[in-house]
Amino acid sequence: RRIALIGAPVEVGTSEPGSLMGPAALRTAGLARTLADLGHAVTDRGDVAPDVPAGARGFAAVTAWTRALSRAVAAALDAGELPVALGGDHSLSLGTVDGVLRHCTRNGQPLAVLWLDAHADFNTPETSPSGNVHGMPLAALCGEPGFSDLFAEPAPPPLDPARVHLFGLRSIDAGERALVSARRVGVTDMRTIDEFGVVAPLRRVLERVAGEGAHLHVSLDVDFLDPAIAPGVGTTVPGGATFREAHLIMEMLHDSGLVRSLDVVELNPFLDERGRSARVLVELVASLFGRRILDRPTPPVAAV
Ligand code: ARG
Ligand code: MN
Ligand code: MN
Ligand code: MN
Repeated sequence: RRIALIGAPVEVGTSEPGSLMGPAALRTAGLARTLADLGHAVTDRGDVAPDVPAGARGFAAVTAWTRALSRAVAAALDAGELPVALGGDHSLSLGTVDGVLRHCTRNGQPLAVLWLDAHADFNTPETSPSGNVHGMPLAALCGEPGFSDLFAEPAPPPLDPARVHLFGLRSIDAGERALVSARRVGVTDMRTIDEFGVVAPLRRVLERVAGEGAHLHVSLDVDFLDPAIAPGVGTTVPGGATFREAHLIMEMLHDSGLVRSLDVVELNPFLDERGRSARVLVELVASLFGRRILDRPTPPVAAV
């Protein structure tokens, strides 16, 4: 594959400084080299640098990032590349998913989003307890009110919430819980993963995406992982995915052949321990892009 790395040093969506160092840490941990060693043609496009109005905070700054990232991601997809956005806080997905949505709308392809995250990120300015935009991107992308002028005009039709799947959910605010139910967002929460593991629920999601012929966008928030393996994030929540679960998910995503764009978000190197979280993320992305233990597919157990 041709992979475009797109740096998104965004931290205007969170109150915890440090995620703007995320792209540098992922590069330092060897992301480009690791993907190239797997046989991919990797181009590092450097960091997107929007014209953020001087002193702008909140939505003015988020709007500038959203529009610049949307253009970068749509251009990569239009050129036949697979964009990987290096974050940066999760508000960056306003831009990346908007760019994917525009590409898909032009090509008449449905868009499915797999949101690997402890959180739902489905707050609106109205429901948000924190006011932090990184807790709101899915609500905005799905067309909830309260986000006027975020996306460039003409805006594409909003993301279909029924094609969004939250995977790993274990922290949700009251307002988001009501919205996630009302909009019929897909959910595999940690309770479900405890009961059934990751394989059966993910297989269902992937079968549906394949059946619909949809473009699959994956948004990987560091806090999806258990803080024991990835402490470098501002919003740790205990009880997350284990190292093995996370790799199995990435391997299944690779084997599905469905992933067309990826965000790696919320890495906060300032909170990390000697680069551990950045290294784990690079390893996970490697699994998603085809690293496997043997150089042949692992045979199904029944055939052994
Ligand atoms: N639900 C909380 C909020 O709205 C936390 C969101 C955390 N989001 C994230 N992308 N880490 O503030
Ligand atoms: Mn395409
Ligand atoms: Mn998130
Ligand atoms: Mn999160």
